[in-house]
Amino acid sequence: MYSIYCRVFQAAFKLVANFLPWRQPQIFTTTAAMVDMLRERHAKRGLVVTDKVIASLGLADTLLSQLTDAGIAYTVYDKTSPNPTIANIEEALAQYKAEQCEFIVAVGGGSPIDCAKGVAVRVARPKKSIPQLRGQIKVRRKLPLLIAIPTTAGTGSETTVAAVITDSETHEKYAINDPVLIPRYAVHDPTLTAGLPPLTTATTGIDALVHAVEAYIGGSNTRETRRNAEEAVRLIFANLVQATENGSDLTARANMQRAAFLAGAAFTRAYVGNIHAVAHTLGGMYGTPHGLANAVILPYVLRRYGHKIDRRLAELARAAGIKTDGTEVQRADAFRAAVLELNRRLNIPTAITALRREDIPLLAGRALKEANPLYPVPVIFNRADMENIYRAILAE
Ligand SMILES: NC(=O)c1ccc[n+]([C@@H]2O[C@H](COP(=O)([O-])OP(=O)(O)OC[C@H]3O[C@@H](n4cnc5c(N)ncnc54)[C@H](O)[C@@H]3O)[C@@H](O)[C@H]2O)c1
Ligand SMILES: [Fe+2]
Repeated sequence: MYSIYCRVFQAAFKLVANFLPWRQPQIFTTTAAMVDMLRERHAKRGLVVTDKVIASLGLADTLLSQLTDAGIAYTVYDKTSPNPTIANIEEALAQYKAEQCEFIVAVGGGSPIDCAKGVAVRVARPKKSIPQLRGQIKVRRKLPLLIAIPTTAGTGSETTVAAVITDSETHEKYAINDPVLIPRYAVHDPTLTAGLPPLTTATTGIDALVHAVEAYIGGSNTRETRRNAEEAVRLIFANLVQATENGSDLTARANMQRAAFLAGAAFTRAYVGNIHAVAHTLGGMYGTPHGLANAVILPYVLRRYGHKIDRRLAELARAAGIKTDGTEVQRADAFRAAVLELNRRLNIPTAITALRREDIPLLAGRALKEANPLYPVPVIFNRADMENIYRAILAE
């Protein structure tokens, strides 16, 4: 009965999605071109949201001097934590207000971009707290001008409707989803990702793979999301190992940036699924990096879905050039094997060491709450299914 309710709920959302104002950011290939745009808009003061690592690497420095040269004032918030928190957003918001900013630029991975989205949401909805805006289409107000400059090739947050935020008091992680959160502009400059360490390159890249796969095997995909997901998967299998092993290969980096964007464009419309639901609980509870959690969980959930997803995985195997001949089952198996092999090549662990057995009931409950009824997953998990996934990734 419950699964029928979930399917009806998902069908209703799929219908509603046809009427939502989907758009994509306008992409610049340099920050200089983006700053020209700001100058043409007569922008005066902005908030730059980043994190300590990005700041210490000087990855925002070129942008900051270009802003100065253009006569545009800025203030920098650099305290975003990985898995950004409500406290981060409130602190950055206070700075935005104190400095009378009128636009927001995020420089960093998904964490600073989502933090910036959170600030923009609070500017647009000053009377609502972040927890009150949790969920689907609660913002419904125009945000201040928002620009995303990704320095990881993973989340695709520069083109998604989502801001994923952690409540440090409850250790819960959840999303605010609303088309108004799609940034107006983004900068795709692969040189910004060239210094990303190997394991972060690998895990953030697998996050993009999981976006593409979950969107593709879910029930709300469209012809366009399938096309985007197929291209993302092809690019990831062709470039992620190279980007990880030879970080300065800018072609591989640019291809991964494109893959992350396409995968973001796919899942923002077609949703993620159980893998993300579990990953978010680990990020919220233990601070597990998002991509790492996804990478570890991916093979187990694909296995649990069984033959139900063979057709889709076979299509992905063909699109990615993993196996183009043979039966559907053979191609689907080849895809599952290729995922395991990719994880192995990238030195992804097979367990989450922070996970504690006694937390499993709580975490599984949270993951079920995130996944159902919203995510149009191929197999609706019950509590036992979900707890089994956590047990599979226990390190002990
Ligand atoms: N909004 C969305 O659509 C969406 C989608 C997926 C994930 N997310 C969220 O995004 C967050 C994860 O983002 P992420 O995976 O990009 O990681 P991140 O932003 O947390 O960055 C990971 C680490 O890499 C460092 N880093 C980033 N770029 C670097 C570079 N170029 N060189 C060296 N170090 C660099 C960061 O400082 C940080 O320490 C999670 O909170 C996740 O839930 C959001
Ligand atoms: Fe993700």
